[in-house]
Amino acid sequence: MTSLIIDTDPGVDDAFAIALACASPEVDLLAVTTVFGNAALDTTTRNALRLLALCGRDDVPVARGADRPLVHPQVHEAELVHGNDGLSGRAHTLPDSGRSPVESDAVGLMAALLRDAPEPVTIVPIGPLTNIAALLAAYPSLRSRIARLVIMGGALSGGNTTAVAEFNLWSDPEAARRVLVEERLPTLLVPTDLTFRCRVDRAWLDRLSAAGPLGATLVGLTADYVAHYTTFFGEECTVLHDAIAVAEAIRPGLLRTTTYPVEVDCTFGPSRGALVADRRTPEIIATFGSTLARAVDIATDTDVDEVRDFLLTRLAG
Ligand code: RIB
Ligand code: CA
Repeated sequence: MTSLIIDTDPGVDDAFAIALACASPEVDLLAVTTVFGNAALDTTTRNALRLLALCGRDDVPVARGADRPLVHPQVHEAELVHGNDGLSGRAHTLPDSGRSPVESDAVGLMAALLRDAPEPVTIVPIGPLTNIAALLAAYPSLRSRIARLVIMGGALSGGNTTAVAEFNLWSDPEAARRVLVEERLPTLLVPTDLTFRCRVDRAWLDRLSAAGPLGATLVGLTADYVAHYTTFFGEECTVLHDAIAVAEAIRPGLLRTTTYPVEVDCTFGPSRGALVADRRTPEIIATFGSTLARAVDIATDTDVDEVRDFLLTRLAG
C-alpha cells in the first residue's frame, strides 16, 4: 500500500489524477492539498472537494494552501485552458460536497500526516510547487518522512505556457527551484515531453465516457481542455499530464527515467520558469563538469499504450 498526498490545482487533468488515485486499491490517499494555479485557490479548493465527493471519498481531508507564488506574482490566464471555473465551466455538474476544507492549512496538514504516518509518504505535486517549498522550509526534520516526490512539471524541449516553460514551474519558479534544485529528496519529475506523448484522442475519451457514470462525468469536464490541446497539436486530443504522474506513483517504474543535472530559471528574461537540464552524456559531464548542481530523475520514456490503457481501465472502474 502506497500512502499518498496529492497537492493539486484542479484543473481538468488534476480531476482525472484525483479520480485515478481514488480508483486505485494500491493507494492510501491521506489528503488532498490545494494550491493556486489553473484557477484561484478558492476555486481549486472547491473543485477538489467536489471531485472527492464524485469519487465517494468524503473521508479524504482537503486543506487549503498557497493562494499566490512564494516571492513574485505571476499572472496567467489559465481560464483559457481549464475554463473559468477550472473545469471547463462544468464544475456545477459535480456533486456539492457539503464539506469544508479542514481547519489546518495545507502545510500544517501535510506535516501532521508525515509525522504520524507509519511509513514514509509519497507526495504527488501536480500544480505549482509553492506548498511543497513551504513545507520543506518550515519542516526540514520531516524530510525523512517523505518516501519520494513524484512531480508533474517542467519541459525539456518546448514549454506549454511560454516558448520554454511548463505551467507548474512557470507559475512559481522560486518554489520550483527550492524543491528541485535546493533539496535532495528522492524526486521523479514528469515533464510535458513525456505527457505530450501520452496524449489521448477523441476515441479514448468516448470509450471512457461510455464506460460508466464516473467516466462520463470526467469527460464532461474536458470541453475547454480538449479545445486547447486540439489547437496546440492540430488534432483532436487532450493531455492528462497529472494523471500520468499519479499513475507512476501508483505503479512505480511505469515511467522510465534518465538522470540529469537540473536548474530552474528564476530570472526575468524570456526563459523565466524554464527547466534547464544538462542532457550531455555522463562521460562528457564527468570530463568537463556541469554548472548544474542537482541531478533529478526525469521521466523520459514509457509504453504510451500501456499508460493510456492503465488510465482507461482504472477510470472506467
Ligand atoms: O503543464 C501542465 C500542468 O499545469 C498540469 O498540472 C496542469 O493541471 C496545469 O496545472
Ligand atoms: Ca495541475
